[in-house]
Amino acid sequence: MILCIADMLPAELLQEAQSIFARSQFADGKDTAGWHARQIKHNLQIIANQPQAQALQQKILSQIAAHSIIASAVLPKQFRPLLFSRYETGMSYDSHVDDAIMGRDANGAGAVRSDISFTLFLSPPDSYEGGELVIESTSGEQVFKLEAGQAVIYPSTSLHRVCEVTRGIRDAAVGWAQSYVRDAGQREMLFELDTVRRAIFRRDGKSPEFDRLSKVYSNLLRNWSEV
Ligand code: NI
Repeated sequence: MILCIADMLPAELLQEAQSIFARSQFADGKDTAGWHARQIKHNLQIIANQPQAQALQQKILSQIAAHSIIASAVLPKQFRPLLFSRYETGMSYDSHVDDAIMGRDANGAGAVRSDISFTLFLSPPDSYEGGELVIESTSGEQVFKLEAGQAVIYPSTSLHRVCEVTRGIRDAAVGWAQSYVRDAGQREMLFELDTVRRAIFRRDGKSPEFDRLSKVYSNLLRNWSEV
């Protein structure tokens, strides 16, 4: 399941992100690439230990974690720190799959399994050419170039790429979540059920039908989740 979220960032936070991108220092994106992705990753990333970048990470992650669609569709257990990426003209990131396990230290602690990947677009789409996010699925390729402040979330199991930017600069935040529910198909069924039970609640209030549906939802989540 691939979802676009139109209202991921409020306007003030988007402006703050854009101004921090304008005054941050960047390093080669290869520094955080897995060994197989290093040859095909051509971008820049904000150096993570700058205080303004760390503060921005926290603000954006809080916003993402609190979004009702993220809560329902991702069922997040934990997030990886965001990467703030920049593609200047001529930069791209060829087809790859994101690392399955991220953030392990030398002792094996701190590991996060990537179940869901997301890209939060920060540059207005008419300010650059190219730079589309292309996600491969069994039904073909899906192409995303969203408005600034909008996000796309997709299963980390997918091959994906960022097309070459041929004019301008494309800024984005990218991140990963480990879900309580590992399987993408199970997450999708839970999301559908949750969406329907909320619609029934809005229409009829707390009816016997809502209670039954909620029971099924909760018991499936109980069965499928890892806590
Ligand atoms: Ni990726």
